Order: sequence, then C-alpha cells, then structure tokens
Amino acid sequence: MKQPIKGFSKLTKEAKLEWLAATYSKNPEATIAFLQSYWHEDAKVQKLHDDFIENTVTNYYMPFGVAPNFKINGKLYTIPMAIEESSVVAAAAKAAGFWLERGGFKASVIATKKIGHVHFMYEGAVEKLTTFIEAITPKFFEDTEGLTANMRARGGGILNIELKDKTAAMDNYFQLEAHFETCDSMGANFINSCLEQFAKTLTSEVQKSDLFTAAEKDIQIVMCILSNYTPDCVVRAEVSCPVSQLNADEGISPETFAMKFQRAVRIAEIEPYRATTHNKGIYNGIDAVVIATGNDFRAIEAAGHTYASKDGQYRSLTHCEVKDGQFRFWIEVPMALGTVGGLTKLHPMVKFAHQMLGNPNAEELMCVIAASGLAQNFAALRALTTTGIQKGHMKMHLLNILNQLEATEEEIAEIKAYFEDKVVTHSDVVKKFCEVRGIEVPTPKVKQ
Ligand code: HMG
Repeated sequence: MKQPIKGFSKLTKEAKLEWLAATYSKNPEATIAFLQSYWHEDAKVQKLHDDFIENTVTNYYMPFGVAPNFKINGKLYTIPMAIEESSVVAAAAKAAGFWLERGGFKASVIATKKIGHVHFMYEGAVEKLTTFIEAITPKFFEDTEGLTANMRARGGGILNIELKDKTAAMDNYFQLEAHFETCDSMGANFINSCLEQFAKTLTSEVQKSDLFTAAEKDIQIVMCILSNYTPDCVVRAEVSCPVSQLNADEGISPETFAMKFQRAVRIAEIEPYRATTHNKGIYNGIDAVVIATGNDFRAIEAAGHTYASKDGQYRSLTHCEVKDGQFRFWIEVPMALGTVGGLTKLHPMVKFAHQMLGNPNAEELMCVIAASGLAQNFAALRALTTTGIQKGHMKMHLLNILNQLEATEEEIAEIKAYFEDKVVTHSDVVKKFCEVRGIEVPTPKVKQ
C-alpha cells in the first residue's frame, strides 16, 4: 500500500523525482530518465519552467500550432494555438481562409470593467450601514492610493464602490462591490490587493464610528476576492456576407447552407444539451489562443459559461441571422485577459505568441481571441450541417491512431492515401494497418 509523504515540497527536485519513481514505477531508474528527457536542455529555461508552479518534476508538452489568414478589423494575423485536440487548428485555419475572401472578421470591445467583492456579515439596520458606506467611500480610495498609483497613471484604477444588500439570499450577508479598470493587465492581483485593503478600512472605520452599537460593530469579513464573472468586460466578433457567397461545400446551395447553419445555431440557443457542446467547440478556439498567450483559460471559460446562462438558461454564445439576403454570424463573450503581467513576459513561447500577433494590447487581443472562437464555431457547424463532423475530424486524427499503432513512415503514407476519399473510423484504420503489415486483425477482448 502507498504511504503518504510529509514535507514533500521541501525536497529537492531530484529527491522528488526519486520518490515519485520509487513509489509509482517498477523501474525507477528508467522512469527518472524518462521524466528527465522532457527537461529543457538549457538549465536556465528549465529553471524558469520549474518556478512557474510548485513541485515541478518535468515538463508536459503540448503542441503549439498556428492558424494563418485571420483578417480581423482589416489586419492580417497568424494566430498561435496551444491545444492537444486534432482538427482544431485545421478548422480555425479553414474558417479563417473562408472569411478572408469575404471581408474577414469585424471585432470590437464592448466594455473592459472588472469586478471584485468584499463579502461580509453585518447584523444591524441596513439604512445605517448604507449611510455609513457612502460616507466612508472616499476613505476606500484614499487608503488604496499607494496600490493604485501606477494603474491610475496608465488610465485605470478603481471605478466605483457600492454596498450590495444580499440579506434576501442569506441572513446578514452584504458585499462591497467594486469595479476596476485594469488596462492591459488581467488585474487579479491588483484587484485582490485593493479588496483586502477595503476590508481593513471597513473594519477599522466601523470600530471608530459611534453610529453602531457594540453588536453591530462585530462585522465579519468572510473573504475578499475578484469575480471571474465579467459581464462588463466583453468583446464582440462578427462575420457577414451575402448569402449568395456562402458556397460552403459541393452539393449544397448557399441558401440551403445558410438555412441549415442558422437552424443549428438556433438549436444551441434554445437547447442546453446542444449549447454545452456548441460552446465547447467555441472554447476549442478561445482556450487554445488564451493558453498560447499565457492567459488564464479557467477564468475565461468560467466567465463564458456564466454569461451563457445570464438569462437563467444556458445558451449558445454565438448567434446567426439571415435577413434580406445577408448572412450574419457573431459572438459576444466576456474576456478578461492581459498582455502584461503573469506569464506574458516570462514564458518564452508566450513571448513568441505575443510577438507573432504584433504585441497587441489587451483590447486587440480580446478581438483576436473572440474571432478565433467564432471561426472555430463556424468550422464545426459547417462540418456538422454538411459532411458530418467525423469526416474532417477523423481525417486529422488518423495520424494519432497510426502513431498509436507504431506504423512506419511507409505504412503511414500508404494508409493515408487509402483513406483520402473515405471516412476514417478507428476500426477501419486498424483493419487497414493489419492488412498493410500482413498481420491478423486482433479480435476485441470480451469482458468476462
Ligand atoms: P478539408 O476541407 O478536408 O480540408 O477540411 P482541406 O484539405 O481541403 O484544406 C482546406 C483548409 O483547411 C486548408 O487550407 C487549411 O487552412 C485547413 P490550405 O492550408 O491548404 O490553404 N486544413 C489544415 N490546416 C492545417 N493542417 C491540416 C489541415 N487540413 C486542412 N492538416 C477540416 C478539413 C478538418 C478543416 C474540416 O473538416 C473542418 O473544419 N472540420 C471541423 C473540425 C472541428 O470542428 N474540430 C474540432 C474538434 S471536434 C469538437 O470538439 C467540437 C464539436 O463538438 C463542436 C460542436 O459540436 O459544435 C464539433
């Protein structure tokens, strides 16, 4: 039986590797060599990666691909994408190429406000607290002047602070809700530092005040934290063209394609089961660029899913209109990200991704990422409503299956040529591989 370990974090990296290999491998030496083979050859670069997180023992590779031909607001981009799933980059590239010839993507930032809360408990009269918070609001700004000086110099800072009465949902529960402009940074550390200062100011000002009884002065701070739900930090991207130009695939007229496409979007607007997969496809495109550019994909996804439910039902983040012979397809999505801070100037590949994009500011990057999500959704819906998803997806996945079978270069070439005009399925690939290699097709094991 495996034993727990105390003080693991204090071990050296080598000792961590040894423990891991000894505990989880029958051949510790080979396991250590395997894990070390993923270390970067330049010790300085490896040290950088080691320090990003805690208890690092090695690196976990993810492909870094690029999708060229994205025309966004008249500017041409090659978009960096870090993702493990086959066909995502190809789909983005195909959609980018399609829209390149039809005016490209138009994107604009609707708002960039971030939000954070001091969650606290207060047992007393609401009116008293409301008057008090109004009176001490300048003090919140004053006490955070040191923290906000640089952000204010860049044109950002704390925008407003207000009291929220949440007692209808939970007894004695209130919030100090603050809005922030964090310019080109995602702003999490900035926001959390301000919120923690607000909590200190609130507690000390309440103590000094003679407005409250002794019991009312016992304000309990529950927590101070930004919200990753950013409905006021939103970007919109759109593509449009005359329906007659929607020659999407052979054998289907532009009008039929527009009708089928719009119907598929409508289903995602009204049906949560479909909306979840539809939005997952959008985040194929968004997450890949968010990761490549060193941003927090968990935060961005979480915000998107909450936004998708903003009217009480989970819905599609994209929308489509076919009107007066014109096809319009758009996305509106929250996108709190940064082009400074975090990993953006540290991770060598992240730095390269920003360089590829022309070192955009946060608003430009929001536009690029929204366009990537829209392109991804367009490609997936085009496949789904015409050929079906498996044809293209499995065509891209074919190499993974062949690599899993350890096919040789010659076998890969022959099998790829064979599947050129066929829909790829796992079992057909295995069959063809066995035929090419001259071995028997394995019979599936039946569970006893
Ligand atoms: P195709 O028409 O067979 O491709 O499409 P093609 O060989 O004719 O090439 C056309 C263009 O596609 C190329 O232009 C590339 O831009 C791109 P070119 O570079 O030749 O000028 N392309 C590639 N790019 C890089 N490497 C490649 C490559 N092949 C084509 N190897 C394709 C094939 C897969 C693009 C198409 O079938 C497609 O877009 N399918 C959709 C795939 C997709 O959405 N994948 C996401 C994973 S599935 C999923 O998780 C989401 C989902 O559930 C979401 C939902 O339900 O809504 C589907």
